[in-house]
Amino acid sequence: MLFQSIKMRCSSLWLIFALKISFYWRSVHLVSMIKFTNIKCVALDKPFADFAYCKLKALSRDDVALSLRVKLFEVPVNNVSSFVFQLKVEFFKKYNGYRPFLFNKTLNFCEFLRNKKRVALLDIIFKFLELYSNINHTCPYNNDIIVDRLILRPSYFTMLPAPAGEYRIKITVGAYNDWKAIVNVFLQIWE
Ligand SMILES: *[C@@H]1O[C@H](CO)[C@@H](O)[C@H](O)[C@H]1NC(C)=O
Ligand SMILES: *[C@@H]1O[C@H](CO)[C@@H](O)[C@H](O)[C@H]1NC(C)=O
Ligand SMILES: *[C@@H]1O[C@H](CO)[C@@H](O)[C@H](O)[C@H]1NC(C)=O
Repeated sequence: MLFQSIKMRCSSLWLIFALKISFYWRSVHLVSMIKFTNIKCVALDKPFADFAYCKLKALSRDDVALSLRVKLFEVPVNNVSSFVFQLKVEFFKKYNGYRPFLFNKTLNFCEFLRNKKRVALLDIIFKFLELYSNINHTCPYNNDIIVDRLILRPSYFTMLPAPAGEYRIKITVGAYNDWKAIVNVFLQIWE
């Protein structure tokens, strides 16, 4: 009798668990295709840094490659502790115009590099960004920053399911308490 009721309780728990899983999977949006659609770069302090180039190139129907090169003119820095590299990352999704979506964070990029796990979403992005760039570097940065033919693949986003739509990611870069550049990246996701 006791054994019977334990068994029943187990199976109903199992049923609830299974329902939850299937509900979760239905609400999860796996990325089937993801592509850059536009990029806009603005240098805010040209004596400090400027873009040598900032562009997209369609390599095939599914592959759009992003390349950019930031030239740093006021190459620092023998004093590492005074070097600060700020990053503001804002996500937008297009509904009726672009609206703030999910993520909005300002952080010290040098600290992030020391412990990437602390900002999970940027950790996911950094993992593929570093494959196409020289961004994996300890502070201070004293050379040009290069992203070379970055192509987005759905496999980069298995940890980051996202609903279909058009997105904009605005990245504002600062140094020494001053915003220096803005990169606006537009992309589209298909489920
Ligand atoms: C480095 O910069 C920090 C912060 O601005 C300052 O406190 C420190 O004295 C500097 N060190 C040297 C060796 O200049
Ligand atoms: C992000 O947060 C900052 C500061 O809280 C705010 O000024 C900015 O408008 C926010 N951006 C978005 C897209 O919500
Ligand atoms: C990034 O830099 C860290 C520390 O220098 C190194 O351990 C890691 O292997 C680098 N990652 C890649 C993909 O090169």
